Amino acid sequence: MHDRLMVALDVSTAAQALALRDELGDAVGWFKIGLRLFVAEGPQLVARIKESHKVFLDLKFHDIPNTVAQAIESAGQLGVDMVNVHAAGGTEMLAAAVKAAAPFSNMQLIAVTVLTSDSMPKEQAAAVALERAVMAQAAGIAGVVCSVHEVAAIKSRCGGGFITVTPGIRWGDQSLQDQKRVADPAAAIQAGADYLVVGRPIIKAPKARVAALQAQKMMHDAIRL
Ligand code: C5P
Repeated sequence: MHDRLMVALDVSTAAQALALRDELGDAVGWFKIGLRLFVAEGPQLVARIKESHKVFLDLKFHDIPNTVAQAIESAGQLGVDMVNVHAAGGTEMLAAAVKAAAPFSNMQLIAVTVLTSDSMPKEQAAAVALERAVMAQAAGIAGVVCSVHEVAAIKSRCGGGFITVTPGIRWGDQSLQDQKRVADPAAAIQAGADYLVVGRPIIKAPKARVAALQAQKMMHDAIRL
C-alpha cells in the first residue's frame, strides 16, 4: 500500500522537506512536490527526494501547447516519475504534452480534471471531470487527478488501466480546510483510486509517521473488505 500513498510536501524549505522524508521513510512510496517547494528549492531538491522515493512533480502546467511541451521535456530530464497538466488546457495542449513526454517512458503524464477545492456542485464537478478524463485519454494521457467521488465513473468509462490520483483525503474529525470533495482512505481504495494524495493530514500531524501508518491501515483494511 505504501506505493499508493503520495505525501504532499507542501513546506517551504528543503530542510523541512528532507526532515519529513526521513521521518516518513518507508511508510510512503511517493512524495509530491508542488508549486511552493519547487519554486523555493527547485531541481536540486527533486534529486534529493528521488534518492529514496518516487516523485510526483505537481506543477499543473496550463499554458499554450509549445510552452507546456517544453516544461514537460524539462520535467522528463529531471527524472520525475509523474508530472501533470490541466486538462482544461484543451486537446491540442494535451497532445503536445503527450508528445513531449514520449521519450521519458518511466514518467507518467496525468491531467487534472476539476480541482478538489472547486466549489462547483458535486454533480456538475462529476460531469466535467468525466468529460475532461475522456478528452485526456483521447489525447493519449495516462490518467487523471480527480476526487474519490469521480473515480468509479471515470474507471468505468476509460477502463481500469486509466490511472486515477485522488487528493482531498480526510479521515476522522480532520478539518476540510480548503478542500470540498473529500473522502477517507478506505473510501478511496474501495472506489478504485490508484494513488491517494495526502498533505496536511500527515505533514501537519503531531507525528507524521503515525498519521501515514494510520492512512495505510485504513487502505489495507478496505482491500480486505
Ligand atoms: O493538504 P491536502 O491533503 O489538502 O493537500 C492536497 C494536495 O493535493 C495539495 O498539495 C494540492 O495542491 C494537491 N491537489 C489537490 N487537488 C487537485 C490536485 C492537486 O488538492 N485537484
